[in-house]
Amino acid sequence: MKILRISASDTIDIRHQMLRDGRSREEAIFPHDEDDQTFHLGGFIEGKLVSVASFYFENHPDLVDEYQYRLRGMATLPEFQHQGLSSALLKMAFPIIKQNLCSLLWCNARTSAMGFYQNVGFEKIGEEFDIPTVGPHVLMFKKI
Ligand SMILES: CC(C)(COP(=O)(O)OP(=O)(O)OC[C@H]1O[C@@H](n2cnc3c(N)ncnc32)[C@H](O)[C@@H]1OP(=O)(O)O)[C@@H](O)C(=O)NCCC(=O)NCCS
Repeated sequence: MKILRISASDTIDIRHQMLRDGRSREEAIFPHDEDDQTFHLGGFIEGKLVSVASFYFENHPDLVDEYQYRLRGMATLPEFQHQGLSSALLKMAFPIIKQNLCSLLWCNARTSAMGFYQNVGFEKIGEEFDIPTVGPHVLMFKKI
């Protein structure tokens, strides 16, 4: 397994397949993907990109930390799941976020992935809510 910085455009195929299946490819392009403070990580197995995650300098209105990062577009191709790839991407991201003087990472987690986020140290806050066309979510955060 190898973890590398990748470009926003590298993330789109896996995002589209895993997070916006059946919808247009454009819906897998997220706002601020190309911002200077945004970074994208990819997990590679035998040279093939199989896992992606993106990190945005963005505060959540319900969280008080002064500077925060947001995690979006976390996905691992089905045949490569449960091998520690997403956890490895997050572990690589934490020091980069800290270097940017941010102490908190948050995400709107799909309820189906809550177990994963809890495993890597995220806590749930607030009630479940629905994101139209995507499904039930919950706000989760991790102090880093
Ligand atoms: C959630 C997801 C990103 C996890 O990726 P992954 O590369 O399989 O994650 P890891 O292998 O690093 O898993 C880390 C831990 O979480 C557990 N885990 C993984 N997916 C889980 C899930 N859906 N529910 C509960 N636990 C999960 C693993 O067993 C592992 O724990 P362990 O090492 O103690 O056994 C992956 O299942 C996925 O792409 N799902 C579909 C897209 C999605 O829902 N993304 C999240 C959007 S908010």
